[in-house]
Amino acid sequence: MTTTPFPPELLRDVEKRRTFAIISHPDAGKTTLTEKLLLFGGAIQLAGTVKARKSARHATSDWMEVEKQRGISVTSSVMQFEYQGHTINLLDTPGHEDFSEDTYRVLTAVDAAVMVIDAAKGVEAQTIKLLNVCRLRSTPIITFVNKLDREVREPFDLLAEIEDVLKITCAPVTWPLGMGKAFRGVYHLLQHQVLTFTPGEERRTDGEIIKGLDNPGLDARFPLEIGQLREDVELIDGASPPFDLDDFLAGQQTPVFFGSGINNFGVQEILQALLDWAPPPQVRDAGVRMVQPAEPAFSGFVFKIQANMDPKHRDRIAFFRICSGRYSSGMKVKHVRAGRDMKLANALTFMANERVIMEDGVAGDIIGIHNHGQLQIGDTLTEGENLGFKGIPYFSPELFRAARLRDPLKSKQLQKGLQELGEEGAIQVFELEGGQMLLGAVGVLQFEIVAQRLKDEYKVDAIFEPADIHTARWLTFPDDLTRRNFEREQALRLGKDVDGNPVYLATSRYNLEVTMEKWPKVAFHATREHG
Ligand code: G4P
Repeated sequence: MTTTPFPPELLRDVEKRRTFAIISHPDAGKTTLTEKLLLFGGAIQLAGTVKARKSARHATSDWMEVEKQRGISVTSSVMQFEYQGHTINLLDTPGHEDFSEDTYRVLTAVDAAVMVIDAAKGVEAQTIKLLNVCRLRSTPIITFVNKLDREVREPFDLLAEIEDVLKITCAPVTWPLGMGKAFRGVYHLLQHQVLTFTPGEERRTDGEIIKGLDNPGLDARFPLEIGQLREDVELIDGASPPFDLDDFLAGQQTPVFFGSGINNFGVQEILQALLDWAPPPQVRDAGVRMVQPAEPAFSGFVFKIQANMDPKHRDRIAFFRICSGRYSSGMKVKHVRAGRDMKLANALTFMANERVIMEDGVAGDIIGIHNHGQLQIGDTLTEGENLGFKGIPYFSPELFRAARLRDPLKSKQLQKGLQELGEEGAIQVFELEGGQMLLGAVGVLQFEIVAQRLKDEYKVDAIFEPADIHTARWLTFPDDLTRRNFEREQALRLGKDVDGNPVYLATSRYNLEVTMEKWPKVAFHATREHG
């Protein structure tokens, strides 16, 4: 037997971590599933808590002004809970109106994702976008097909759509017995048993278990539905691949579960899959070398900044994913980009929906670090080594606005404000030829937040006007001559990001395709690493 180089206690704690996010299109049932997972995990006593938070109009002081006005959570939060000896970190991905670049960034900090599909609607737009982000890191995906208690689409049809649109192989693990009003439960294809369904929100256990597909008890109980299930299972055995852990971990195959979140049905199977199959924190690329999660030296990266938690103090919270070592309050760490030391004290963790001071954290855990703008998205903190974690990119914006001032005398402040907010990652800022500032976002709320922050923090009243831009691509050139020629020909479509990198601003998808075809040697990138 080989001996492990890692401290055994740390290794044990890391192995117990599961860090994941739920991805879905609005209304598929993410909030409901989050709540049920917390309920099963014992983190909340009663259903309704997360939902209440979603719809409540908060008035506490640590919500941003925009958040107060609109009653939504501007940035995602982290929920930690214990389940069967494991520590589970569930990172919320802002959906609805609060969809933003943060939603994408959260996915760079997880080790797995649960994809919720509305069984009546199938694969929807936002799910496609989020799955594409997961694909950048080959994140393993568990699929939950929700709302089986409603009139829904054929399960085979849904799987075919997931495979076609999302380009991921489906391995059904449970299969519905009836649907809609006649939804009777699911057959567990690996355990060879039927779990019966009874509607109701308050139960914490799945229904009765009936072993064996040939069990005559099933014919007696479900005479109308059992024939179809047996036919389906025969078809699955012939046509669908069995669940394969390696393919799942490589992000190529997704285990599929059917259920009804609101009825607590199928939720336990998802938790079990997270424990049994989802990976604990993995090795991460830190530029100069790969970092093992159970290495004793502390390291990690910032993946999200939440500003104005307390507007009076203008402080910001940097959400930091631990990648190795152990966090302890008061520890000294190196801020690699700035090249100086800082003390980590009073970091926050997020237990269900209250913030508490973090005592101890290992790889996979998320801590919130108070700071006044020193930390940016993508920053690495270590115990001395010059590491730089990769894979926390800027994403190509999907919405664009041109910034204009009400008071032209404030142009210096506008420039400074946008530069700083761009560096922080609140929005993307591009400067065009002639100095015009263009803002790019993936969610409209980002513009509102930036307008508000420009007003509060920089005393600038700016108007954002629609801009005729479809998408942006970062450019890299094979040589100087190509760069110069491209710049000359495409001057009108070129801009620079906050770090001075060249960006192509396409007016339409067609415009982008034509330009890419014309310049085969120029590389057009949809994401860019920070720093
Ligand atoms: P989201 O976070 O993905 O946006 O979805 P959310 O959980 O808020 O669910 C969206 C709607 O779907 C909610 O109904 C919710 O109750 C319902 N829902 C979630 N899971 C199931 C399910 O398994 N079966 C059925 N039939 N419905 C489900 P709503 O009418 O928008 O809200 P509410 O009136 O229930 O609060």
